[in-house]
Amino acid sequence: MAITFDEGRRIFTLTTRNTTYQMMADSFGYLLHLYYGAKTAGFTDWGLTFADRGFSGSPYELGRDRTYSLDALPQEFPVQGTGDYRSPMLIVRDSEDTYGADLRYSGHEITEGKYSLPGLPAVYANPGEEAQTLTVTLSNNRLGLSVKLLYGVIPGKDIITRSVIVRNNGSKPFTAEKLYSSCLDFTHGDFDLITFHGRHTLERQYQRQRLNHGSYSVGSRRGMSSHQYSPFVILADHDATETHGRCWGMNFVYSGGFCAEAELDQYGQTRVIMGLSREKFSYGLEPGEEIAGPEVIMTFSSEGLGKLTHSFHACIRENICRGKFRDSPRPVVLNTWEALYFNFDGRKILDAAESAKALGVDMLVLDDGWFTNRNNDAQALGDWSADEGKLGCTLGELVSRVKAIGLDFGIWVEPEMISEDSRLYREHRDWAMIIPGEKPVLGRNQLVLDLSRMDVREYIIQSMRGILNEGVTYLKWDYNRSIAELYSHSGSNGKLAYKYILGLYEILERITSEYPGVLIEGCAGGGGRFDAGMLYYTPQIWCSDNTDALDRLTIHYGTSFGFPMSAVAAHVSTCPNHQTGRITPLKARYTVSMTGAFGYELDPLKLTDDERREISGQIRQYKLDREIITEGLYYRLSNPESDNYCAWEYVSHDGSKALISVVIPQNHGNMPVIYITPRGLTHGAFYRDIESGKIYPADALMDSGFPVDMPKSDYESFTFRLERM
Ligand code: DGJ
Repeated sequence: MAITFDEGRRIFTLTTRNTTYQMMADSFGYLLHLYYGAKTAGFTDWGLTFADRGFSGSPYELGRDRTYSLDALPQEFPVQGTGDYRSPMLIVRDSEDTYGADLRYSGHEITEGKYSLPGLPAVYANPGEEAQTLTVTLSNNRLGLSVKLLYGVIPGKDIITRSVIVRNNGSKPFTAEKLYSSCLDFTHGDFDLITFHGRHTLERQYQRQRLNHGSYSVGSRRGMSSHQYSPFVILADHDATETHGRCWGMNFVYSGGFCAEAELDQYGQTRVIMGLSREKFSYGLEPGEEIAGPEVIMTFSSEGLGKLTHSFHACIRENICRGKFRDSPRPVVLNTWEALYFNFDGRKILDAAESAKALGVDMLVLDDGWFTNRNNDAQALGDWSADEGKLGCTLGELVSRVKAIGLDFGIWVEPEMISEDSRLYREHRDWAMIIPGEKPVLGRNQLVLDLSRMDVREYIIQSMRGILNEGVTYLKWDYNRSIAELYSHSGSNGKLAYKYILGLYEILERITSEYPGVLIEGCAGGGGRFDAGMLYYTPQIWCSDNTDALDRLTIHYGTSFGFPMSAVAAHVSTCPNHQTGRITPLKARYTVSMTGAFGYELDPLKLTDDERREISGQIRQYKLDREIITEGLYYRLSNPESDNYCAWEYVSHDGSKALISVVIPQNHGNMPVIYITPRGLTHGAFYRDIESGKIYPADALMDSGFPVDMPKSDYESFTFRLERM
């Protein structure tokens, strides 16, 4: 049993293959966190300590006994106003503007299978896969407030998920002013917090810092998970490495604003909490109403960050991603954006398709600029009908012609947006989120549609049907600005940020179920919405608008901690690179891009014969390696903070094959030799490097590594393919 309950001690135990999670409903009804760590037998309540904690407050029932304080005890669901002065998961304001709700345990249920959440993406269990759900109910009688804490356990993957449903069972309204979904409390420890920060064209840069007294938070107030901070954090022992030490990860299954807070308190206790952004969040609940907090996926590893990554990769790839393309190979694409931008017509598209076909490409993706009046980025968003003058034919005819060349056809859309200069805006000004009487904030010259409205959602779905019914089999679903204003002509604005994302999920759910053969690639000005919520609908995401081989190294490095490589869309583009002006060899651009969902984003008609030959070879090779890249175990073999090279490895699940990539950004005079130390090979076995024919004993290789040839220039890259003998 993955979940057990000890009636005598009122202790809940959640067990996975390598981990144990424990909590206790104590004699006062408070739900105290006991343990999340290496798998253990027995009970861990001996870790709780009780002492008189000045100025920390005690529950009334204790009378003069001052040795119990929620401020000094680890909790599962800290609530404001209970004498715990650390950051809470829930803040409730009642109809008289009074804050606080004392929540006590009132029951629980253990059920088979993994819970799902109304209207929200969540981890699912596969047929035959063991999974259980624990629902613990906490109640407050004054308000009629009931909180259901949901815990999902996928034991085989070392995954525990958390979510929360807050319900008004009372007779008066109250308002949730803060709602987080997960909390990890530690009574002691010396921890680092690992977060991933960035900006447009440089997303998910790794940052590791020691937790000090005070509170540190990352999050997004932009209505999207954002380029600036990833909704994914890791708490690690200060000495934890890729292969050693304890670490805990939290990955938010949500695409809107979020916040993750890490706090080291007066007693050296650490709290990490994660949930919905509080920015403009004020969620009124009438009697009978409820709200679900989005899910957080958690895992623990006692074997360092590498193992933690493997658990997240497996869970997101197999228990979050869905549909045909979860398991089937993704097409190699030629995307027209960096090749042609807005400057194309139907002839150029067909010429590019023919040229790409000869290279071995599978699909042509027609990016922005294909619909009526869309010749720059200031116009026409919302009017999703093809510019037949520009294309020289209908969309359906263009699709058929590209298919006749032998390529599948994909297309760019940005359905959540509206241009002021559009037919849609002229007809439905009230569909845009603009505060009446205020001038709207523009982002890339555009406004955001109010997805909380059903008529808007229906319009978007109908528009997408119009495109998909023409034979399009891939959508690049873009989103090119942050939300600044939250204003709806229908419904409450304190709920709008959340309802917007629910609206987006409803649209994506309906489209993916109506068109199960269509692959949707998520995108938000590159990787501005790279999160597990989007991956539930779009199994791959355009990782960054930066296609520079050097910058992509750190972007992929950061992304790899929480997200599977199959989700990382990366393209080889032309040089000088359009974002950085850098010139890198075609080989290095390929080595970096063949990290996940792969393609090209350059004008194939401008290639030299040598480049065409090289690219044909790359595509042939990628197709041979595609399975291990998208499904293998991924290992980071270098640390960009300390190494002068970047190396990573994919190992097939049975350990029989390994693919190792190395990029050396800078060459220097008389450089020390670089040694690469693979991981995940079969102990006791021998491996042959299939290109050089060299034979290596696995254990020595994983102990001491092998030397890489001296680079002859900057951006030298190498690929090694090892096969078990
Ligand atoms: C932003 C995307 O990230 C780019 O790849 C491209 O599709 C442009 N939008 C098109 O407007």
